[in-house]
Amino acid sequence: MNVVILAAGQGKRMHSNLPKVLHPLAGKPLVQHVIDTARCLSPERLIVVYGHGGQIVRSTLVSDDISWAEQAQQLGTGHAVAQALSQLSAAAQTLILYGDVPLISMATLQALAQAAKDAMAILTVNLDQPSGYGRIVRDAAGAICRIVEEKDATPGEKGISEVNTGIMVVPTASLAKWLGMLGNDNAQGEYYLTDIVAMAVNEGMVVHSAQPQAEWEVLGVNSKLQLAELERQHQHNLAKQLLLAGVRLADPARIDIRGELHHGRDVFIDVGCVFEGRVELGDAVEVGPYCFLKNVSIAAGTRVSAFCHFEGAKIGPDGILGPYARLRPGTELGPEVHVGNFVEIKNSKVAAQSKANHLAYIGDAEVGRRVNIGAGTITCNYDGVNKWKTVIEDDAFIGSDTQLVAPVTVGRGATLGAGTTLTKDAPPDTLTVSRAKQLTLSGWQRPKKNK
Ligand code: UD1
Ligand code: CA
Repeated sequence: MNVVILAAGQGKRMHSNLPKVLHPLAGKPLVQHVIDTARCLSPERLIVVYGHGGQIVRSTLVSDDISWAEQAQQLGTGHAVAQALSQLSAAAQTLILYGDVPLISMATLQALAQAAKDAMAILTVNLDQPSGYGRIVRDAAGAICRIVEEKDATPGEKGISEVNTGIMVVPTASLAKWLGMLGNDNAQGEYYLTDIVAMAVNEGMVVHSAQPQAEWEVLGVNSKLQLAELERQHQHNLAKQLLLAGVRLADPARIDIRGELHHGRDVFIDVGCVFEGRVELGDAVEVGPYCFLKNVSIAAGTRVSAFCHFEGAKIGPDGILGPYARLRPGTELGPEVHVGNFVEIKNSKVAAQSKANHLAYIGDAEVGRRVNIGAGTITCNYDGVNKWKTVIEDDAFIGSDTQLVAPVTVGRGATLGAGTTLTKDAPPDTLTVSRAKQLTLSGWQRPKKNK
């Protein structure tokens, strides 16, 4: 099958400089949803008709399997499809999709292709409020005769509730012929793709129809209001899938997934969490309220409490993280690691059972097992030009308010006294302190206020 995706419209009602089809839904451009669904049908050709913001659209969607057809002026849907004609494989059927109708499902498209057989089929839907859409006109026997656009419809035709979603499957050779015959003598002065329906019927071709499994599949985006409504619909669908697969959600209306969320059994997710990229949650993982997780994997049994921000991190099993913890790219935590409030870890490995429970920065470090990192510990990893590594070996104890000036190593079992600024390696199993000795001046008095 050939797939043609119409994406040339500007989207005036979006009131935006970004071309309409690039506005994100679940973190992904609208048209990318359509492309991804179309790909599942293994099309022979996948052609995107672009116009407004052409260069941005093309550079955003770079991919080897997409061909491009420019529609410099938007003269109507028929004219748009005509721009792709030369790139279609004549032997196959052509499926026409819309770049601003993002939630169309594979199952519905397969049903439509089935319905078409060797002839054509259009995806229709019955709406309580059909206004604005093209209406499906059927004869007394129920066969489709033509489509009439709202602006060209008689009052009687406006009463028809079955509408054209715009999505259709057409034999390619016929499509090429009919598009060549289109005129624009209608209320909008446009070349209507929908006029090919009457041409097919004229030639004695039966025009079949199919219906989507759900109405939201065929809803288009023309405004930010509709975009927001479809986003909620999509998130609701994703939440429902998670619940049915055994994930416990505190509230299915308060979760946002902008990517893939993989999960084990007995996972719990509290309200307000946002997941981006690829996130994996192992068995019995709990995610507290208002966490942001992007490209993160969390192994079984780990508990994340409220307000954590994790990106590009690999977290071991049975950890205790947060509240208010930040893990940045390149973080790898072993089993049973504790990371508490206001601790930031970047590009560092922290091995099993180590703890950094309060207020610390660990960057470009390798931390062994059972290490205790006191409150206020900082790895000074950056000298203003280069980044350097800190190594903290197993069973070390880092006193509070310590600066580790990298490159530096804290030996196995070493203790650093609170307030130490470590500039040379600390030997194993010893106490290293770098601070002035404590003095008490017995005759000292507080200064007095000048009168
Ligand atoms: C079209 C259908 C209508 C259907 C409705 C469903 C026609 C004549 N009418 O109407 O029967 O009920 O969709 O939403 O087909 N586009 C281009 N180039 C153009 C014109 C449009 O790429 O020159 C793209 C738009 O970006 C959009 C899609 O085609 O993605 C539909 O265009 P739109 O103007 O919204 O069509 P409607 O008038 O709503
Ligand atoms: Ca429309």
